[in-house]
Amino acid sequence: MRIQRSILSVPGSNWKMIQKGAASEADIALLDLEDAVAPASKADARQVVIQAFTELDWGGKPRTFRMNALDTPYFYRDLIEIVEGARGAVDLIIVPKVNRPEDVYVVDTMLTQIERGIGQERHIRLEAQIETAKGLINCEAIAESSDRLNSLIYGPGDYSASVQMPSTSIGVMDEWDAVYPGHRYQYVMHRILAAARAAGIRAIDGPFANFRDADGHRTSCLMARAMGYDGKWCIHPAQIEVTNELFSPSADDIAWAQRVIEAYEDANRNGLGAVELDNKMIDAANIRMAQATIDQAQAAGLL
Ligand code: COA
Ligand code: MG
Repeated sequence: MRIQRSILSVPGSNWKMIQKGAASEADIALLDLEDAVAPASKADARQVVIQAFTELDWGGKPRTFRMNALDTPYFYRDLIEIVEGARGAVDLIIVPKVNRPEDVYVVDTMLTQIERGIGQERHIRLEAQIETAKGLINCEAIAESSDRLNSLIYGPGDYSASVQMPSTSIGVMDEWDAVYPGHRYQYVMHRILAAARAAGIRAIDGPFANFRDADGHRTSCLMARAMGYDGKWCIHPAQIEVTNELFSPSADDIAWAQRVIEAYEDANRNGLGAVELDNKMIDAANIRMAQATIDQAQAAGLL
C-alpha cells in the first residue's frame, strides 16, 4: 500500500483545482463529492470526476474520490455512475460519516456487484471517516468490517458538531481549547488510532482549516504524528510539503533506528536481551519501534 502522509481534498466540481491536485506532491489527491460540492452541483461533479480519472495523469497517485454519506440520496449514484463510468480507473473511495460496520458492508456489497458487472477483477479499496458520536462508539467494529479497508480517518469538524463541542474552525485549537485542561480531542483521536492499529490498518488525521496559518498547521501535524497517526488531510496545496516532511521519519530518526537494530543484534549474539546505547536501555521493544521507523522510511523512499 502506497504511503499516505498528505491527503489533499479537492472539490470534485472544480476542474482547475483537480488538475492542480493530480499534479501535486500530495500522496493522495481525493476528489470530493461530499461537503466541498453544493447540492445543485452533485450530479455534474460525478461527470467531472470520471473525466479526471480517465484523462489526467495522476503520477502514480491512487485515483480517489469521497462519496456522499449513506443518509443522502446521492450516495448510490456516486458509486454506480463513477465506478461504471470510469471503467476500472477508480482505486480508492472515502466513505464519510460511517456510523456502524453495516455502512461499510453496504458499500462493499455494492462495489462487489458493480465490479462484477463491468468485469473488473481488482478490488477498489475503502477508507472510513469516523466523525460522528455513533461512528466513534462503533469504530473498533468498523475497522474490522471489510478487507477493502485501508484506514480510519478522524473527521474533526463533523465530530465536534456531532457531540456538540463548540469549535470555531475545523481541526484548529481555539479559545475553547485554551480553557480546557489537556487536549480536547485526545480521547477520540486515540480511540480511532487504537481501533485502526488493532485491525492492522492506518489512522489518518483530518484537516486544519486555517490554511494561511502555517505554524498552526505544523503544530497540528506534529500532534497527530506524536500520537502515532500515519498522515493528515490537507485542504490547500500550501499544506502538502510540510505534511509530507513531518509524517516522514527524519534523518536522525533513521540513523538512530539503524543503530538500535545493530546494537540489539550484537547484544543477542552475546546472549543479552537488554543493553545500553547512548545512556539509554535498549531491549526488544526498541527493536519494534526501530523497525517501524525503518518501514516508514522505506515507504517514504528515504532508504
Ligand atoms: N486543491 C487543488 N488546488 C487548490 C486547492 C485544493 N484544495 N485549494 C487551492 N487551490 C489552488 C487554487 O485554485 C489556486 O490556484 P492558482 O494559483 O492556479 O489560481 C492556488 O491553489 C492558491 O489558492 P488560494 O488563492 O490561496 O486559495 P483559494 O481562495 O483559491 O481557495 C479554498 C481556498 C479554501 C476555497 C480552497 O483551498 C478549497 O476549496 N479547499 C478544499 C476544500 C475541501 O475540499 N473541503 C472538503 C474537505 S475538508
Ligand atoms: Mg466531514
